[in-house]
Amino acid sequence: MDSKKIGDRIYPQGYEPQETPDSSDDDVRNQLLDFILHSGSIGSTKPSEVIDTDLFAVMSKRRSTRKFSDKPVETIKIDKIIAAADTAPTAGNYQGFEIFYMKSPEKKKLLVEACNNQPYVNSPVVLIFCKNPSRVKFDFPDYVLKKFAIQDATLAAGYSQLAAQALGLSSIWIGMFNEQKVMDIIETDLVPSSILCIGYPEQTKFPKPRRNLKELVHVVW
Ligand SMILES: Cc1cc2nc3c(=O)[nH]c(=O)nc-3n(C[C@H](O)[C@H](O)[C@H](O)COP(=O)(O)O)c2cc1C
Repeated sequence: MDSKKIGDRIYPQGYEPQETPDSSDDDVRNQLLDFILHSGSIGSTKPSEVIDTDLFAVMSKRRSTRKFSDKPVETIKIDKIIAAADTAPTAGNYQGFEIFYMKSPEKKKLLVEACNNQPYVNSPVVLIFCKNPSRVKFDFPDYVLKKFAIQDATLAAGYSQLAAQALGLSSIWIGMFNEQKVMDIIETDLVPSSILCIGYPEQTKFPKPRRNLKELVHVVW
């Protein structure tokens, strides 16, 4: 593949950023992110704080939940879940996605209807991940920018979902919704890609089985 060197970085041809994202206050932004990600994790005195730092244990225990308890989710946990999304890789680091944190109880009810009447969408924490291809500043055709934006938004939601699990919470990923209805409710022209509903589970369940790894993987020589 052809490549291009800019400074000390090498990019595949055509992939080199057209614009560098604003980096004037990189340090401050990264410090804030680090602070949120690390807060409460080491030597926490709060008994309610559950943090599993073993990534593979988190992955192996995750199970979707559609019944949440009424226990409110602590703000620090919500901050961490959102910060986790911000650590996900994005195309060109342009972060082609936005998160809408739905707090309004009335609008949550409207969201249930917009999501094919799935009642559990009315959950303690609702995060709507939207694509924002206009942030992706590559000189590529529109369809490529859209493809990047959906991947950015999806990956970010996946990071948040794992973070929620690590914090002793559970979640359900919602992909079945009427895009326009959701956009009307949250008042945006950005198209949603997924909705993450999070809370404390009413009960802990075993993870669902998967197909055999051998069937999943196709080795190419
Ligand atoms: C792209 C996608 C769309 C989904 N959409 C919905 C949905 O609209 N409603 C729902 O109840 N679950 C939805 N789910 C959750 C899946 O049903 C669930 O992840 C799957 O059954 C596997 O279970 P697990 O998450 O416990 O491993 C969706 C998951 C994904 C990845």
